[in-house]
Amino acid sequence: MPLIMHGEPVGVLQIDSAELDAFPPDARACVLMLVPAIAAAVQNALLFDRERAALQQLQETEQQQRDFVAIVSHELRTPITSVSGFGLTLAEHANDLDNDTIADIGFRIWRSSRRLERMMGDLLDLSQIERGTLSAEPAPTDIEPILRQSVREQSNDAHPIVVDLQAPLPKAMVDGDRLHQIVGNLLSNARKFSPAGTAIEVVVRAEGDAIALTVEDHGKGIPEDLINRVFDRFFQAEAATTRSVDGLGIGLYIVKELCQRMDATIEVDSAVGRGTRFTARLPVAV
Ligand SMILES: Nc1ncnc2c1ncn2[C@@H]1O[C@H](COP(=O)(O)OP(=O)(O)O)[C@@H](O)[C@H]1O
Ligand SMILES: [Mg+2]
Repeated sequence: MPLIMHGEPVGVLQIDSAELDAFPPDARACVLMLVPAIAAAVQNALLFDRERAALQQLQETEQQQRDFVAIVSHELRTPITSVSGFGLTLAEHANDLDNDTIADIGFRIWRSSRRLERMMGDLLDLSQIERGTLSAEPAPTDIEPILRQSVREQSNDAHPIVVDLQAPLPKAMVDGDRLHQIVGNLLSNARKFSPAGTAIEVVVRAEGDAIALTVEDHGKGIPEDLINRVFDRFFQAEAATTRSVDGLGIGLYIVKELCQRMDATIEVDSAVGRGTRFTARLPVAV
């Protein structure tokens, strides 16, 4: 017997017996009378389940947002403390300090300010994604100078970056500033999640109507059960309380959203203990 509510099937009622003629006509009539009530009860149970799932989802999102505010506050504190501490040192003791020390303090203030700038930039991008206003303006672009600049900015003694670019490369249909941002994000993750002394490789190849750009590190890798979530908003494999590295957990989310806006794709391949490889495929300009 189908259970129908408002013209929609919500279930089936089946009553069996091993005995022949177990259900005399009056018993059948009685069951028939109960069918609408049973259908309503089943539908209520279904609706209740759905409501509960929606509520749980909402609570999780709210919790995520509370955690995010805590993470942002925590991440802002370190560079701000550094800027104000070193700034005060300069203001009060500049006359007693030698030039090298003053230059070193200036560099530290600059580095912390850069970190704050990058965080503010990421937060602005995040809010633009949420409001649907994040934009990229693809145009035929020679990507080599952009990649070289990103590599120069991110390379240091602890993490030499090896570049292998196919020459000549066709122009890509990308927004140059956004590509710079994407590569900067991938390289800073590669540095952050791999031990000092291990190389990072950037390989670029033309592949049909795309340019494949890979950033590979030999770091800690990403556990298999978490890999599908690295592009999710706020996702970080390690909990904020036990994390040894900084970050807001929105870099790869922004990278994915930017790629989508340039008709590019991004994928990740990783093995714990061996390293991680991100591959972006950029459309070739025609
Ligand atoms: N190269 C990488 N190696 C290992 N884990 C990575 C790598 N890149 C990203 N991840 C994981 O993905 C998470 C999300 O990255 P991201 O969105 O850039 O946030 P954040 O860098 O602020 O933590 C990181 O916290 C980390 O757990
Ligand atoms: Mg990051």
